Amino acid sequence: MKILCVEIAKNYGYNEIKTPIFEHTDVFVRIGDDSDIVTKEMYTFLDKGNRSITLRPEGTAAVVRSYLENKLYAKTSPMKLFYFGPMFRYERPQAGRYREFHQFGVEVFGKSTPLLDCDVIISANQIFQELGIKNYHLKINTIGDNESRKLYSEKLVEYFEEHINHLCSDCKRRINKNPLRILDCKVDGNNPIIKNAPKIHDFLNQESKDYFSEVLSILDYYQVDYIVDENLVRGLDYYTDLVFEFIIESNDELDGLAFCGGGKYANLVESFGGMDIPGIGYAIGVERLLSIVDSQDGWNDKIENDIDVLIISLDKLSKLKALEIAYLLRLHNIPTEIDYEHYTMKHQFKLADKLNPKFLIIIGEEERKNNIVSIKDNETKVQETISQEKIISYLKGKLL
Ligand code: HAM
Repeated sequence: MKILCVEIAKNYGYNEIKTPIFEHTDVFVRIGDDSDIVTKEMYTFLDKGNRSITLRPEGTAAVVRSYLENKLYAKTSPMKLFYFGPMFRYERPQAGRYREFHQFGVEVFGKSTPLLDCDVIISANQIFQELGIKNYHLKINTIGDNESRKLYSEKLVEYFEEHINHLCSDCKRRINKNPLRILDCKVDGNNPIIKNAPKIHDFLNQESKDYFSEVLSILDYYQVDYIVDENLVRGLDYYTDLVFEFIIESNDELDGLAFCGGGKYANLVESFGGMDIPGIGYAIGVERLLSIVDSQDGWNDKIENDIDVLIISLDKLSKLKALEIAYLLRLHNIPTEIDYEHYTMKHQFKLADKLNPKFLIIIGEEERKNNIVSIKDNETKVQETISQEKIISYLKGKLL
């Protein structure tokens, strides 16, 4: 899974960034003091120097902190970064919700264009397609630029104040602090008062409208299916304009679960004391994605097939030769495996069935004595005999 995510991210021009597992609490408070993560879910404690420390609940804030501290803005724009690592949230553990979980995420800084936004969404979609995930939806919405959102928030405050008695206690508190978050109420998502609330799309200024419709038309062009969900606001306060989530549809407890969420954040870099630099990104919940693949019996060859070559060797001396060839192939970045134990074809073909390598190299007494190997394309089943010196050039030609 990690290999696939990283491979795809690299193909899109992302470089890896690693941030510490814990940081000063201040870093994560910037997520927004009304988001559940900050109010309820952070593992925060004092260290021996009486400093407030928090276990990383998500990647974005930490990446922004590092982006500024290391002056990555001076290097290139857009700056495309990816990360993979553990996150911690103090939540009631249940299906798909853990206290320690992993995210694969990307963040892009420096540019704000519909084409870039779509490229980001498409990269996530490619991961899910390559994993063979079925029955998932991309939900997308705009919460408008600062100007549109201000107007909309005022309207929502007016509306929810009229219906305050029908709101849960969290939402009552949110009315004046962050009325948009009421739309995303987790306590009472089916509340008709919330469902019938004024819609952002009636308050968008022309610029926000045009931007969003351009994003949608690019997604149409690339035939990425989506559902515009006007109540999607996402639970983190830093979002502006575009927000999106990938949701699974299933008939078990995973139904409706978001396995990836993201969006744009126009003001987050500035809130860390940086310049006016826009950002966009997403994070995939790795455990949720694994459960989905599991539940759909989706462990296809593509996922497990990280090995290009399996070397089958039929006697003790050939095994030594196999290790030597494996070393050489690995030096040339060709993922290679050998059977460390068995000498029979039967056992080693069983391993081949499991690993499903692209090529099998077979080496026995005769091959060893004549400095040759038999090499078999595991898909076409075509087998050839080549000299040992030619293995690298032969495979490089075939594996391109
Ligand atoms: P988030 O929606 O809080 O966004 O988390 C992203 C994904 O992490 C969720 O869709 C879910 O799959 C997974 N996740 C969240 N909490 C848990 C949990 N307790 N147990 C298991 N999986 C979980 C963010 O974290 C943003 N930083 C995403 C982002 C990046 N936005 C812009 N850039």
